[in-house]
Amino acid sequence: MTTPRPETLAKLTPVLTKRWLSPDAWRIGTYEQLDGYAALRKALKAHPDDLIQLIKDSGLRGRGGAGFPTGLKWGFIPQGDGKPHYLVVNADEGEPGTCKDLPLMTHDPHALVEGVIIASYAIRAARAYIYIRGEAVHAARRLRNAVQEAYDKGYLGRNILRTGYDLELVVHSGAGAYICGEETALLDSLEGFRGQPRLRPPFPATHGLYASPTVVNNVGTIASVPPIVLGGADWWKSMGTEKSSGPMIYSLSGRVANPGQYECSMGVTLRELLELAGGMQPGHNLRFWTPGGSSTPLLAAEHLDVPLDFEGVAAAGSILGTTATQIFSDQDCPVYATYRWLEFYHHESCGKCTPCREGNYWMVRVYRRILAGQGTHEDLDTLLDTCDNILGRSFCGLGDGATSSVTSSLQYFKQDYLDYIEGRTAPKLSEKTLVGAH
Ligand SMILES: Cc1cc2nc3c(=O)[nH]c(=O)nc-3n(C[C@H](O)[C@H](O)[C@H](O)COP(=O)(O)O)c2cc1C
Ligand code: SF4
Repeated sequence: MTTPRPETLAKLTPVLTKRWLSPDAWRIGTYEQLDGYAALRKALKAHPDDLIQLIKDSGLRGRGGAGFPTGLKWGFIPQGDGKPHYLVVNADEGEPGTCKDLPLMTHDPHALVEGVIIASYAIRAARAYIYIRGEAVHAARRLRNAVQEAYDKGYLGRNILRTGYDLELVVHSGAGAYICGEETALLDSLEGFRGQPRLRPPFPATHGLYASPTVVNNVGTIASVPPIVLGGADWWKSMGTEKSSGPMIYSLSGRVANPGQYECSMGVTLRELLELAGGMQPGHNLRFWTPGGSSTPLLAAEHLDVPLDFEGVAAAGSILGTTATQIFSDQDCPVYATYRWLEFYHHESCGKCTPCREGNYWMVRVYRRILAGQGTHEDLDTLLDTCDNILGRSFCGLGDGATSSVTSSLQYFKQDYLDYIEGRTAPKLSEKTLVGAH
Protein backbone atom coordinates (compact mmCIF):
# COMPACT_ATOMS: atom_id res chain seq x y z
CA MET A 1 0.00 0.00 0.00
CA THR A 2 1.33 3.43 -0.93
CA THR A 3 1.18 6.45 1.35
CA PRO A 4 -0.16 9.60 -0.29
CA ARG A 5 2.29 12.48 -0.67
CA PRO A 6 1.40 15.73 1.18
CA GLU A 7 0.61 17.51 -2.12
CA THR A 8 -1.87 14.76 -3.00
CA LEU A 9 -3.40 14.77 0.50
CA ALA A 10 -4.00 18.48 -0.04
CA LYS A 11 -6.38 17.52 -2.86
CA LEU A 12 -8.91 16.40 -0.24
CA THR A 13 -11.53 19.12 0.30
CA PRO A 14 -13.93 17.78 2.93
CA VAL A 15 -17.07 19.91 2.83
CA LEU A 16 -19.96 17.46 2.65
CA THR A 17 -17.92 14.79 4.42
CA LYS A 18 -16.36 17.03 7.06
CA ARG A 19 -18.54 15.82 9.92
CA TRP A 20 -18.63 12.14 9.03
CA LEU A 21 -15.98 11.09 11.52
CA SER A 22 -17.30 13.15 14.45
CA PRO A 23 -18.79 11.10 17.28
CA ASP A 24 -22.57 10.81 16.89
CA ALA A 25 -22.36 12.97 13.76
CA TRP A 26 -25.97 12.13 12.94
CA ARG A 27 -27.41 13.73 16.08
CA ILE A 28 -28.69 17.26 16.03
CA GLY A 29 -26.52 18.30 19.01
CA THR A 30 -23.31 17.41 17.16
CA TYR A 31 -24.60 19.00 13.98
CA GLU A 32 -25.45 22.28 15.72
CA GLN A 33 -22.01 22.39 17.34
CA LEU A 34 -20.40 22.10 13.90
CA ASP A 35 -22.13 25.00 12.08
CA GLY A 36 -25.41 23.09 11.83
CA TYR A 37 -28.54 25.14 11.02
CA ALA A 38 -26.49 28.39 10.92
CA ALA A 39 -27.04 28.50 7.16
CA LEU A 40 -30.79 28.11 7.67
CA ARG A 41 -30.92 31.09 10.05
CA LYS A 42 -29.01 33.13 7.48
CA ALA A 43 -31.12 31.92 4.55
CA LEU A 44 -34.45 32.67 6.20
CA LYS A 45 -33.40 36.33 6.50
CA ALA A 46 -32.76 36.50 2.74
CA HIS A 47 -35.29 36.91 -0.06
CA PRO A 48 -35.98 33.55 -1.80
CA ASP A 49 -34.98 35.01 -5.17
CA ASP A 50 -31.61 36.03 -3.74
CA LEU A 51 -31.03 32.44 -2.63
CA ILE A 52 -31.80 31.19 -6.13
CA GLN A 53 -29.35 33.77 -7.49
CA LEU A 54 -26.71 32.65 -4.97
CA ILE A 55 -27.00 29.05 -6.14
CA LYS A 56 -26.81 30.22 -9.76
CA ASP A 57 -23.71 32.28 -8.96
CA SER A 58 -22.04 29.33 -7.23
CA GLY A 59 -22.24 27.30 -10.43
CA LEU A 60 -23.52 24.28 -8.46
CA ARG A 61 -24.46 21.47 -10.84
CA GLY A 62 -26.64 18.48 -9.99
CA ARG A 63 -24.85 15.58 -8.30
CA GLY A 64 -27.37 12.99 -9.55
CA GLY A 65 -25.53 12.26 -12.79
CA ALA A 66 -26.48 14.76 -15.46
CA GLY A 67 -24.84 17.84 -13.95
CA PHE A 68 -27.73 20.20 -14.68
CA PRO A 69 -27.21 23.71 -13.19
CA THR A 70 -29.13 23.74 -9.92
CA GLY A 71 -29.91 27.46 -9.70
CA LEU A 72 -31.30 27.39 -13.22
CA LYS A 73 -33.56 24.47 -12.30
CA TRP A 74 -34.87 26.31 -9.24
CA GLY A 75 -35.44 29.40 -11.38
CA PHE A 76 -37.76 27.43 -13.70
CA ILE A 77 -40.38 27.12 -10.95
CA PRO A 78 -43.14 29.59 -11.86
CA GLN A 79 -43.82 32.05 -9.06
CA GLY A 80 -47.20 33.48 -8.10
CA ASP A 81 -48.99 30.71 -9.98
CA GLY A 82 -51.22 29.85 -7.03
CA LYS A 83 -50.23 26.17 -7.20
CA PRO A 84 -48.45 24.22 -4.47
CA HIS A 85 -44.73 23.79 -5.14
CA TYR A 86 -42.76 20.71 -4.14
CA LEU A 87 -39.16 19.81 -3.50
CA VAL A 88 -38.40 16.14 -4.01
CA VAL A 89 -35.00 14.78 -3.03
CA ASN A 90 -33.83 11.87 -5.09
CA ALA A 91 -32.22 9.49 -2.58
CA ASP A 92 -32.76 6.35 -4.62
CA GLU A 93 -29.04 5.81 -5.36
CA GLY A 94 -29.29 2.61 -7.38
CA GLU A 95 -26.56 3.00 -9.99
CA PRO A 96 -24.07 0.13 -9.60
CA GLY A 97 -20.91 1.35 -7.89
CA THR A 98 -22.52 4.54 -6.61
CA CYS A 99 -22.10 5.07 -2.93
CA LYS A 100 -22.14 8.72 -1.88
CA ASP A 101 -25.74 9.56 -0.93
CA LEU A 102 -26.35 6.68 1.46
CA PRO A 103 -23.20 7.32 3.53
CA LEU A 104 -24.08 11.02 3.59
CA MET A 105 -27.56 10.31 4.93
CA THR A 106 -26.23 7.76 7.39
CA HIS A 107 -23.43 9.92 8.80
CA ASP A 108 -24.76 13.44 8.40
CA PRO A 109 -28.53 13.38 7.78
CA HIS A 110 -29.04 16.90 9.13
CA ALA A 111 -26.91 18.29 6.28
CA LEU A 112 -29.62 17.05 3.93
CA VAL A 113 -32.51 18.15 6.15
CA GLU A 114 -31.07 21.67 6.44
CA GLY A 115 -30.52 21.80 2.67
CA VAL A 116 -34.11 20.70 2.10
CA ILE A 117 -35.48 23.51 4.25
CA ILE A 118 -33.38 26.19 2.52
CA ALA A 119 -34.13 24.89 -0.98
CA SER A 120 -37.87 24.62 -0.21
CA TYR A 121 -37.90 28.17 1.11
CA ALA A 122 -36.13 29.38 -2.05
CA ILE A 123 -38.65 27.76 -4.42
CA ARG A 124 -41.60 28.60 -2.12
CA ALA A 125 -42.52 24.99 -1.34
CA ALA A 126 -44.52 24.14 1.77
CA ARG A 127 -44.04 20.40 1.40
CA ALA A 128 -40.94 18.38 0.61
CA TYR A 129 -40.23 14.69 0.17
CA ILE A 130 -37.11 12.60 0.42
CA TYR A 131 -37.56 9.47 -1.69
CA ILE A 132 -35.11 6.95 -0.31
CA ARG A 133 -34.24 3.49 -1.56
CA GLY A 134 -36.31 0.80 0.11
CA GLU A 135 -33.32 -1.39 0.96
CA ALA A 136 -31.50 1.48 2.70
CA VAL A 137 -33.17 0.77 6.02
CA HIS A 138 -30.33 2.03 8.18
CA ALA A 139 -30.01 5.34 6.30
CA ALA A 140 -33.79 5.81 6.33
CA ARG A 141 -33.88 5.26 10.08
CA ARG A 142 -31.17 7.87 10.64
CA LEU A 143 -32.96 10.27 8.31
CA ARG A 144 -36.35 9.85 9.96
CA ASN A 145 -34.75 10.40 13.33
CA ALA A 146 -33.06 13.57 12.05
CA VAL A 147 -36.34 14.86 10.63
CA GLN A 148 -38.04 14.30 13.98
CA GLU A 149 -35.18 16.08 15.78
CA ALA A 150 -35.56 19.00 13.37
CA TYR A 151 -39.32 19.17 14.04
CA ASP A 152 -38.70 19.09 17.79
CA LYS A 153 -36.26 22.00 17.52
CA GLY A 154 -38.60 24.13 15.40
CA TYR A 155 -36.58 23.84 12.17
CA LEU A 156 -39.52 22.10 10.49
CA GLY A 157 -43.28 22.45 10.79
CA ARG A 158 -45.27 25.65 11.35
CA ASN A 159 -43.65 29.06 11.68
CA ILE A 160 -40.05 27.85 11.38
CA LEU A 161 -37.76 29.84 13.71
CA ARG A 162 -40.66 32.31 14.08
CA THR A 163 -40.25 33.55 10.50
CA GLY A 164 -43.77 32.64 9.39
CA TYR A 165 -42.42 30.02 6.97
CA ASP A 166 -44.09 26.56 7.13
CA LEU A 167 -42.63 23.31 5.78
CA GLU A 168 -43.62 19.67 6.16
CA LEU A 169 -40.96 17.09 5.27
CA VAL A 170 -41.83 13.47 4.54
CA VAL A 171 -39.30 10.63 4.20
CA HIS A 172 -40.71 8.06 1.78
CA SER A 173 -39.12 4.65 1.28
CA GLY A 174 -39.39 3.21 -2.22
CA ALA A 175 -39.63 -0.49 -2.94
CA GLY A 176 -36.21 -0.84 -4.53
CA ALA A 177 -36.21 -0.35 -8.30
CA TYR A 178 -33.39 1.33 -10.19
CA ILE A 179 -35.86 2.99 -12.55
CA CYS A 180 -37.42 4.86 -9.62
CA GLY A 181 -34.23 6.95 -9.53
CA GLU A 182 -35.23 8.42 -12.89
CA GLU A 183 -36.93 11.59 -11.77
CA THR A 184 -40.30 11.19 -13.50
CA ALA A 185 -40.59 7.49 -12.59
CA LEU A 186 -39.79 8.57 -9.04
CA LEU A 187 -42.66 11.05 -9.11
CA ASP A 188 -45.07 8.37 -10.38
CA SER A 189 -43.89 6.01 -7.66
CA LEU A 190 -44.27 8.73 -5.02
CA GLU A 191 -47.84 9.32 -6.21
CA GLY A 192 -48.57 5.62 -5.68
CA PHE A 193 -48.33 4.43 -9.27
CA ARG A 194 -46.00 1.88 -10.78
CA GLY A 195 -42.65 3.61 -11.27
CA GLN A 196 -42.25 4.25 -14.97
CA PRO A 197 -40.85 7.34 -16.72
CA ARG A 198 -43.22 10.03 -17.93
CA LEU A 199 -43.19 11.65 -21.34
CA ARG A 200 -41.40 15.01 -21.29
CA PRO A 201 -42.38 17.78 -21.94
CA PRO A 202 -44.10 18.84 -19.78
CA PHE A 203 -41.16 18.91 -17.36
CA PRO A 204 -41.41 18.56 -13.57
CA ALA A 205 -40.67 22.29 -13.18
CA THR A 206 -44.25 22.97 -14.28
CA HIS A 207 -45.96 19.55 -14.11
CA GLY A 208 -44.19 17.47 -11.47
CA LEU A 209 -45.61 15.92 -8.34
CA TYR A 210 -49.42 15.98 -8.47
CA ALA A 211 -49.07 17.99 -11.73
CA SER A 212 -47.60 20.90 -9.79
CA PRO A 213 -44.26 22.74 -10.10
CA THR A 214 -41.57 20.50 -8.63
CA VAL A 215 -37.83 20.54 -8.23
CA VAL A 216 -36.19 17.11 -8.14
CA ASN A 217 -32.62 17.20 -6.85
CA ASN A 218 -30.08 14.65 -5.77
CA VAL A 219 -29.04 14.26 -2.10
CA GLY A 220 -25.54 15.63 -2.76
CA THR A 221 -26.95 18.64 -4.58
CA ILE A 222 -29.24 19.62 -1.72
CA ALA A 223 -26.62 18.90 0.96
CA SER A 224 -24.32 21.34 -0.89
CA VAL A 225 -26.74 24.21 -0.31
CA PRO A 226 -26.01 25.00 3.39
CA PRO A 227 -22.22 25.28 2.85
CA ILE A 228 -22.81 27.57 -0.14
CA VAL A 229 -25.14 29.77 1.92
CA LEU A 230 -22.53 29.99 4.69
CA GLY A 231 -19.38 30.20 2.57
CA GLY A 232 -20.68 32.15 -0.42
CA ALA A 233 -20.54 31.55 -4.16
CA ASP A 234 -16.90 32.65 -4.57
CA TRP A 235 -15.68 30.28 -1.88
CA TRP A 236 -17.56 27.42 -3.57
CA LYS A 237 -16.11 28.34 -6.94
CA SER A 238 -12.60 28.45 -5.45
CA MET A 239 -12.86 24.64 -5.54
CA GLY A 240 -13.19 22.72 -8.76
CA THR A 241 -12.81 23.94 -12.31
CA GLU A 242 -14.35 26.77 -14.30
CA LYS A 243 -17.52 24.97 -15.37
CA SER A 244 -17.57 22.28 -12.67
CA SER A 245 -17.41 24.13 -9.39
CA GLY A 246 -17.08 22.83 -5.86
CA PRO A 247 -16.08 19.59 -4.21
CA MET A 248 -17.40 16.17 -5.21
CA ILE A 249 -17.55 12.87 -3.37
CA TYR A 250 -15.71 10.26 -5.43
CA SER A 251 -16.55 6.68 -4.41
CA LEU A 252 -13.71 4.28 -5.11
CA SER A 253 -14.51 0.59 -5.18
CA GLY A 254 -12.98 -2.55 -6.58
CA ARG A 255 -9.27 -3.35 -6.70
CA VAL A 256 -8.03 -0.43 -4.60
CA ALA A 257 -6.21 -0.78 -1.29
CA ASN A 258 -8.61 1.49 0.62
CA PRO A 259 -12.00 1.68 -1.07
CA GLY A 260 -14.30 4.44 0.16
CA GLN A 261 -15.44 8.00 -0.33
CA TYR A 262 -12.86 10.69 -1.13
CA GLU A 263 -14.16 14.25 -1.35
CA CYS A 264 -11.97 16.36 -3.62
CA SER A 265 -12.30 19.46 -5.73
CA MET A 266 -13.74 18.58 -9.11
CA GLY A 267 -11.04 18.01 -11.66
CA VAL A 268 -8.96 15.64 -9.50
CA THR A 269 -7.55 12.76 -11.56
CA LEU A 270 -7.84 9.03 -11.03
CA ARG A 271 -4.07 8.93 -10.54
CA GLU A 272 -4.47 11.25 -7.55
CA LEU A 273 -7.52 9.43 -6.22
CA LEU A 274 -5.69 6.11 -6.39
CA GLU A 275 -2.81 7.62 -4.45
CA LEU A 276 -5.26 8.83 -1.80
CA ALA A 277 -6.74 5.33 -1.67
CA GLY A 278 -3.36 3.71 -1.04
CA GLY A 279 -2.89 2.54 -4.61
CA MET A 280 -4.09 -0.64 -6.26
CA GLN A 281 -4.39 -3.83 -4.24
CA PRO A 282 -1.10 -5.74 -4.16
CA GLY A 283 -0.56 -7.74 -7.32
CA HIS A 284 -3.11 -5.80 -9.36
CA ASN A 285 -2.52 -3.34 -12.19
CA LEU A 286 -5.22 -0.95 -13.39
CA ARG A 287 -6.85 -2.12 -16.59
CA PHE A 288 -10.28 -0.46 -16.84
CA TRP A 289 -12.59 1.69 -14.74
CA THR A 290 -15.86 3.55 -14.75
CA PRO A 291 -15.66 7.28 -14.03
CA GLY A 292 -19.27 7.56 -12.89
CA GLY A 293 -21.03 4.24 -12.46
CA SER A 294 -22.01 1.43 -14.79
CA SER A 295 -23.98 3.72 -17.13
CA THR A 296 -20.84 5.61 -18.11
CA PRO A 297 -18.48 4.36 -20.83
CA LEU A 298 -15.43 2.52 -19.51
CA LEU A 299 -12.09 4.22 -19.47
CA ALA A 300 -8.71 2.50 -19.54
CA ALA A 301 -5.29 2.88 -17.89
CA GLU A 302 -4.36 5.54 -20.48
CA HIS A 303 -6.98 7.84 -18.90
CA LEU A 304 -5.34 8.08 -15.47
CA ASP A 305 -4.73 11.81 -15.88
CA VAL A 306 -8.14 12.84 -17.19
CA PRO A 307 -9.56 15.66 -15.00
CA LEU A 308 -12.63 14.21 -13.33
CA ASP A 309 -15.04 17.06 -13.94
CA PHE A 310 -18.01 17.22 -16.31
CA GLU A 311 -16.00 18.59 -19.24
CA GLY A 312 -12.80 16.57 -18.74
CA VAL A 313 -14.56 13.21 -18.65
CA ALA A 314 -16.76 14.13 -21.63
CA ALA A 315 -13.67 15.06 -23.63
CA ALA A 316 -12.28 11.58 -22.90
CA GLY A 317 -15.46 10.03 -24.33
CA SER A 318 -17.28 9.18 -21.13
CA ILE A 319 -19.56 10.81 -18.53
CA LEU A 320 -18.80 12.01 -15.00
CA GLY A 321 -22.15 10.52 -13.87
CA THR A 322 -22.25 9.82 -10.16
CA THR A 323 -18.44 9.80 -9.70
CA ALA A 324 -18.61 6.10 -8.87
CA THR A 325 -15.10 5.06 -9.85
CA GLN A 326 -15.11 1.27 -10.02
CA ILE A 327 -11.57 0.02 -10.44
CA PHE A 328 -10.75 -3.18 -12.32
CA SER A 329 -7.35 -4.79 -12.76
CA ASP A 330 -5.49 -7.01 -15.19
CA GLN A 331 -7.07 -9.93 -13.33
CA ASP A 332 -10.60 -8.82 -14.26
CA CYS A 333 -12.35 -9.53 -17.52
CA PRO A 334 -14.06 -6.59 -19.26
CA VAL A 335 -16.36 -8.96 -21.18
CA TYR A 336 -17.59 -10.61 -18.00
CA ALA A 337 -17.94 -7.29 -16.17
CA THR A 338 -20.03 -5.91 -19.02
CA TYR A 339 -22.18 -9.04 -19.01
CA ARG A 340 -22.88 -8.62 -15.28
CA TRP A 341 -23.89 -4.98 -15.78
CA LEU A 342 -26.15 -5.98 -18.65
CA GLU A 343 -27.83 -8.57 -16.44
CA PHE A 344 -28.59 -5.67 -14.13
CA TYR A 345 -30.05 -3.45 -16.88
CA HIS A 346 -32.05 -6.32 -18.27
CA HIS A 347 -33.47 -7.03 -14.83
CA GLU A 348 -34.16 -3.37 -14.05
CA SER A 349 -35.62 -2.39 -17.42
CA CYS A 350 -39.17 -1.23 -16.67
CA GLY A 351 -40.38 -2.66 -19.96
CA LYS A 352 -42.15 0.47 -21.16
CA CYS A 353 -40.23 0.82 -24.42
CA THR A 354 -39.16 -1.82 -26.91
CA PRO A 355 -35.49 -0.90 -27.56
CA CYS A 356 -34.53 -1.27 -23.91
CA ARG A 357 -36.86 -4.12 -22.99
CA GLU A 358 -35.97 -6.32 -25.98
CA GLY A 359 -32.46 -5.05 -26.67
CA ASN A 360 -31.12 -5.81 -23.21
CA TYR A 361 -32.82 -9.20 -23.24
CA TRP A 362 -31.01 -10.10 -26.47
CA MET A 363 -27.67 -8.66 -25.50
CA VAL A 364 -27.62 -10.71 -22.29
CA ARG A 365 -28.12 -13.80 -24.40
CA VAL A 366 -25.35 -12.88 -26.82
CA TYR A 367 -22.96 -12.33 -23.90
CA ARG A 368 -23.83 -15.67 -22.39
CA ARG A 369 -23.05 -17.29 -25.72
CA ILE A 370 -19.69 -15.56 -25.98
CA LEU A 371 -18.76 -16.29 -22.37
CA ALA A 372 -19.73 -19.96 -22.79
CA GLY A 373 -17.26 -20.25 -25.67
CA GLN A 374 -19.95 -20.42 -28.37
CA GLY A 375 -19.84 -16.90 -29.69
CA THR A 376 -19.22 -15.95 -33.30
CA HIS A 377 -17.62 -12.95 -34.95
CA GLU A 378 -21.10 -11.87 -36.10
CA ASP A 379 -22.13 -11.62 -32.44
CA LEU A 380 -19.90 -8.57 -32.10
CA ASP A 381 -21.73 -6.86 -34.96
CA THR A 382 -25.03 -7.87 -33.40
CA LEU A 383 -24.03 -6.24 -30.13
CA LEU A 384 -23.04 -2.97 -31.81
CA ASP A 385 -26.16 -3.00 -33.96
CA THR A 386 -28.36 -3.61 -30.92
CA CYS A 387 -26.68 -0.76 -29.03
CA ASP A 388 -27.26 1.46 -32.04
CA ASN A 389 -30.95 0.68 -31.81
CA ILE A 390 -31.13 1.34 -28.07
CA LEU A 391 -28.97 4.46 -27.71
CA GLY A 392 -31.02 7.56 -28.42
CA ARG A 393 -34.10 5.48 -29.19
CA SER A 394 -35.09 4.53 -25.66
CA PHE A 395 -37.71 6.33 -23.63
CA CYS A 396 -35.34 7.15 -20.77
CA GLY A 397 -31.69 7.13 -19.78
CA LEU A 398 -31.70 3.56 -18.48
CA GLY A 399 -31.62 2.19 -22.01
CA ASP A 400 -28.88 4.58 -23.10
CA GLY A 401 -26.81 3.78 -20.02
CA ALA A 402 -27.03 0.04 -20.67
CA THR A 403 -25.12 0.43 -23.93
CA SER A 404 -22.19 2.33 -22.41
CA SER A 405 -20.08 -0.56 -21.22
CA VAL A 406 -20.88 -2.65 -24.30
CA THR A 407 -19.65 -0.12 -26.85
CA SER A 408 -16.71 1.09 -24.76
CA SER A 409 -15.49 -2.41 -23.88
CA LEU A 410 -15.63 -3.30 -27.56
CA GLN A 411 -13.72 -0.13 -28.34
CA TYR A 412 -10.88 -0.77 -25.88
CA PHE A 413 -10.93 -4.52 -25.31
CA LYS A 414 -12.13 -6.16 -28.52
CA GLN A 415 -9.29 -8.64 -28.27
CA ASP A 416 -10.80 -10.03 -25.05
CA TYR A 417 -14.01 -10.80 -26.95
CA LEU A 418 -12.05 -12.39 -29.80
CA ASP A 419 -10.12 -14.53 -27.33
CA TYR A 420 -13.39 -16.11 -26.15
CA ILE A 421 -14.73 -16.47 -29.67
CA GLU A 422 -11.50 -17.95 -31.07
CA GLY A 423 -10.95 -20.26 -28.11
CA ARG A 424 -7.88 -18.67 -26.48
CA THR A 425 -9.75 -17.86 -23.24
CA ALA A 426 -11.46 -20.67 -21.34
CA PRO A 427 -15.26 -20.25 -21.15
CA LYS A 428 -16.43 -18.47 -17.99
CA LEU A 429 -20.00 -19.68 -18.18
CA SER A 430 -21.25 -23.22 -18.53
CA GLU A 431 -23.49 -24.30 -21.38
CA LYS A 432 -26.35 -24.60 -18.88
CA THR A 433 -26.64 -20.79 -18.94
CA LEU A 434 -27.43 -21.00 -22.64
CA VAL A 435 -30.89 -22.46 -22.23
CA GLY A 436 -33.03 -20.16 -24.32
CA ALA A 437 -29.98 -18.15 -25.36
CA HIS A 438 -30.01 -18.84 -29.09
C1 LIG B 1 -32.32 5.02 -14.80
C2 LIG B 1 -31.98 6.26 -14.04
C3 LIG B 1 -31.71 6.18 -12.69
C4 LIG B 1 -31.40 7.34 -11.97
N1 LIG B 1 -31.14 7.22 -10.64
C5 LIG B 1 -30.87 8.34 -9.92
C6 LIG B 1 -30.64 8.26 -8.53
O1 LIG B 1 -30.67 7.18 -7.92
N2 LIG B 1 -30.39 9.41 -7.86
C7 LIG B 1 -30.36 10.63 -8.49
O2 LIG B 1 -30.18 11.65 -7.85
N3 LIG B 1 -30.57 10.74 -9.82
C8 LIG B 1 -30.83 9.62 -10.54
N4 LIG B 1 -31.08 9.75 -11.88
C9 LIG B 1 -31.09 11.11 -12.47
C10 LIG B 1 -32.44 11.79 -12.20
O3 LIG B 1 -33.34 11.46 -13.26
C11 LIG B 1 -32.30 13.31 -12.14
O4 LIG B 1 -31.57 13.76 -13.23
C12 LIG B 1 -31.64 13.80 -10.86
O5 LIG B 1 -32.29 13.31 -9.71
C13 LIG B 1 -31.68 15.32 -10.82
O6 LIG B 1 -31.03 15.80 -9.69
P1 LIG B 1 -29.76 16.76 -9.79
O7 LIG B 1 -30.10 17.85 -10.77
O8 LIG B 1 -29.58 17.26 -8.41
O9 LIG B 1 -28.63 15.92 -10.28
C14 LIG B 1 -31.37 8.59 -12.64
C15 LIG B 1 -31.63 8.67 -14.00
C16 LIG B 1 -31.92 7.50 -14.71
C17 LIG B 1 -32.19 7.62 -16.17
S1 SF4 C 1 -35.49 2.84 -21.50
FE1 SF4 C 1 -35.90 0.97 -20.32
S2 SF4 C 1 -36.33 1.70 -18.28
FE2 SF4 C 1 -36.53 3.48 -19.65
S3 SF4 C 1 -38.68 3.53 -20.22
FE3 SF4 C 1 -37.67 2.28 -21.75
S4 SF4 C 1 -37.94 0.18 -20.95
FE4 SF4 C 1 -38.32 1.56 -19.26
